[in-house]
Formats: sequence, C-alpha cells, structure tokens
Amino acid sequence: MNYDDFADLYDHQYDLYRDDLHFYAGVAERAGGPVLEVGAGTGRVTAFLARRGVRVVGLEPSARMIERGRARAQEQGLDLTFVQGDARTFRLDERFGLVIAPFNALMHLYTPNEQLSALENIRAHLTPGGAFVFDLYVPRYGEMNTLRHEGETFYGPEGSRTDVFLVQRHDRPRQHVTTEYYVDTTAQDGTLRRRHYTLTQRYYTRFEMEWLLRCAGFESPQVTGSFRGGPLEESSDVMVFRTRAK
Ligand SMILES: C[S@@+](CC[C@H](N)C(=O)[O-])C[C@H]1O[C@@H](n2cnc3c(N)ncnc32)[C@H](O)[C@@H]1O
Repeated sequence: MNYDDFADLYDHQYDLYRDDLHFYAGVAERAGGPVLEVGAGTGRVTAFLARRGVRVVGLEPSARMIERGRARAQEQGLDLTFVQGDARTFRLDERFGLVIAPFNALMHLYTPNEQLSALENIRAHLTPGGAFVFDLYVPRYGEMNTLRHEGETFYGPEGSRTDVFLVQRHDRPRQHVTTEYYVDTTAQDGTLRRRHYTLTQRYYTRFEMEWLLRCAGFESPQVTGSFRGGPLEESSDVMVFRTRAK
C-alpha cells in the first residue's frame, strides 16, 4: 500500500483528528527519552510530540507524506526528523525506550510474515525492556458496496467545496477492508472534479495481535478500548495496545 497518492486527502481528512494526541504525548513524556514513531504519515502526532519537547524520529515509507510532514515542520517552526523506510526492513543505529505506531499504521501489513517481520524489527530497535504502544481500529464491517457520505465536507478558500464519498468492500478470508474514496470538488461555477483513491487495510482481532506480539518477543500486552483507558468492549472503536520488549 503506497500512501503517495493519498497524502493530500489524508491531511484534509485527519488533520483535525485529535483523540489520540494527549495519550501519545503522555506515554512519550513518561518514557523520557527519544521516541520512534512508525508510520508517521504527515507528522500529525510527530509534530504534537515535538511541540511538547519530545525528541521524535518519524519513520515513514511514503516520500509524499514525508514531504508534507517537512512542510508542516517548517510552517510550525519545528525541528522534526523523518526517515524514509518500511517497518519490516528499516535499520537505524539508535535504540529507543519507546516506539509508537499511532492510528492504524500496522494495518498496512497484510500477511503474518509481514506482520512478524515488522514487529521483530521494531523490537530490535527498542532498548531492553523498552515500550511499544500502538492502536488499531476494532474490526468494523459496515454495509458493503454502498456509496455513502459520512459528513466529510471541506471548504476551500476560493469558494469550492470538497465532499468525500466512499464505498467499502470486505475480503473476510484475508481480513482486508478496501475503501474506495470518491472525492468531489465543486467549484463556485458548479464545475465538478472527481478524484479517486483506494485504501486497503488489514484488520486484526485482539487475540491475534496478542499472539503476534508474543511470537515477536514482546510481553503480553495491556489492551484498552479507548485512549482514556477502560476495557475493550462491544462499543469500543479502537484497541490500544501497550507492551514491552522481553
Ligand atoms: C493511517 S496513517 C497514520 C499516520 C500517522 N501515524 C498519524 O497518526 O496521522 C498510516 C501510515 O502508515 C504508513 N505505512 C504504510 N505501510 C507501512 C509500513 N510497511 N511501514 C511503516 N509505515 C507504513 C503509511 O504510509 C501511512 O503514512
């Protein structure tokens, strides 16, 4: 899954997503040392942590996402470090007391081999006993093959409006959900421009992830159903995992 095409839409959609920011800032401040963020995207979390005085390295495979992250750093006068690389194969000389993978970054690892390679590699970049903290969507299988609008409308400075429509398809045997985005920008004169993006995510069940972590040399994780703590339950939207390297 290459996020290059997705970078512009990503910031429109998620720049205002803030549910996780204070959680990751708290975890990073308690850890005390430098933090590695895996799948840093355009630096939404990276920049928030840096503003709080945390030294954070953002690992991200997409050149276009990094470009946007660097532009954000420049706009906000922040000193952000991005490294281009893949969770499965990156190699850094530094070891970290904390690695984070916010907002579903691990949902772009599609097979057990890819998942184990990434988790083992992350573990290899932790100091002994270092922490690994990440969140994943709870598997949600909404209505398939139905075009819907979930209230995402953005207004441009030149009077345009952009509406995001989406259709989801599920491949249950592979635990994949593919979202086709149809992004319509209507200019003031009524002219319509449609762009199309495809995003495939690999869903995990809670216990599947617990076993993967154990296989990759992590302790049995603490799992909560929100960023404020509390158990994972029927109504939870996210699964938040906290574990340590054994
Ligand atoms: C949903 S975004 C989250 C971005 C950022 N962490 C945030 O919270 O806004 C997932 C990110 O994971 C990145 N990603 C995809 N495959 C990856 C891989 N194999 N290794 C590391 N990152 C990956 C994508 O390029 C994307 O930027």
